[in-house]
Amino acid sequence: MSSVLLTDIATLVTNDPAAGPGLLGEIPAAALVMVAGKVAWVGAAREAPACDVRMSAGGGAVLPGFVDSHTHLVFAGDRLAEFTARMGGRPYQAGGIATTVAATRAAPDEVLTARTAALVDELHASGVTTIEIKSGYGLSVLDEARCLAIARQFTDETTFLGAHVVPPEHERGAYLDLVTGPMLAAAAPHARWIDVFCDRGAFDADEARTVARAGQAKGLGLRLHANQLEPGPGVQLAVELGAASADHCTHLTAADVDALAHGSTVATLLPGAEFSTRAPYPDARRLLDAGVTVALATDCNPGSSYTTSMPFCIALAVRELGMTPAEAVHAATAGGARALRRDDVGVLRPGGRADLVVLAAPDAGYLAYRPGVALVAGVWKDGRPMR
Ligand code: NIG
Ligand code: FE
Repeated sequence: MSSVLLTDIATLVTNDPAAGPGLLGEIPAAALVMVAGKVAWVGAAREAPACDVRMSAGGGAVLPGFVDSHTHLVFAGDRLAEFTARMGGRPYQAGGIATTVAATRAAPDEVLTARTAALVDELHASGVTTIEIKSGYGLSVLDEARCLAIARQFTDETTFLGAHVVPPEHERGAYLDLVTGPMLAAAAPHARWIDVFCDRGAFDADEARTVARAGQAKGLGLRLHANQLEPGPGVQLAVELGAASADHCTHLTAADVDALAHGSTVATLLPGAEFSTRAPYPDARRLLDAGVTVALATDCNPGSSYTTSMPFCIALAVRELGMTPAEAVHAATAGGARALRRDDVGVLRPGGRADLVVLAAPDAGYLAYRPGVALVAGVWKDGRPMR
């Protein structure tokens, strides 16, 4: 089994407190050894062991590959007209989802697969090496199952979001029966998680609880879209039901923050959505100061956040959410891993996956310091360079 030494690393972000100081466990003038897709050794370059292959990071920073724990990549069409209207002053509404549902249902599998592949490529280019993908633009038994089957070709972190909105052809009660019955049965074989959009114009707390419990009874893990459009019950419901993550967390009360701080649910912030809906940003500072684990994700979708750039989300998090650069980088790596209940990614330590990003900059803080600049110079997944 050949070993690969990656050296000439100005700063290695490990996210492992045992490896170095600070939140990011940083090692200066570092090197890293990969064997069989895993990290085998990290440390000072001058102490690195001999390896079969030697590669240079070119004096850049190296960090764990980004973990994007929230995307909606399987869809057809776009919503540029809706975005343009919003930038002219119209508010964002959950109802726009129906436009994408119609386009997605009409698209053949090959088209959906090719479009998803193109977005996955964009995510990889932005340094994302672990991707969660939700359904939610099919909203029929057949279309939810096929969107999840397509998502599964790209990741094991697939999420059934049949409870995105009630599609126009259904009455609410009948749709909930469908989602918790035949649709869940068809989706579950392709999904690891279940999600519900618990917000104005989508599903209320009782409906969300019913769907969440049905998914959990089928063995799916829970994540919720919560408190995006207004304060509401979603975040506390997520904590009560032991969800891995409550996503958006834009409008939080003190009781919501308290519940997150005392539970095991990660707060996943999606600043691309506030950017693209011209909404107020969530307050990450308040969450971090209360001891809540925070993740950052792209929320890539055609309606509220059509970005695949994790560096863009990091820059927004620092400028608009009150995070330090180190906190934002940690949230986009270790935070995302926690939101997916994974301990093999989001960290660079012996035994973990050799998924990493090489920057054309000496410190991960440059991701916020140089916003909008293409700093991702290399991406490695399972010990192999992807680009
Ligand atoms: O995470 N909030 C619900 N779902 C998506 C947006 C869906 C859409 O507008 O198409 C989100 O922002
Ligand atoms: Fe979303």
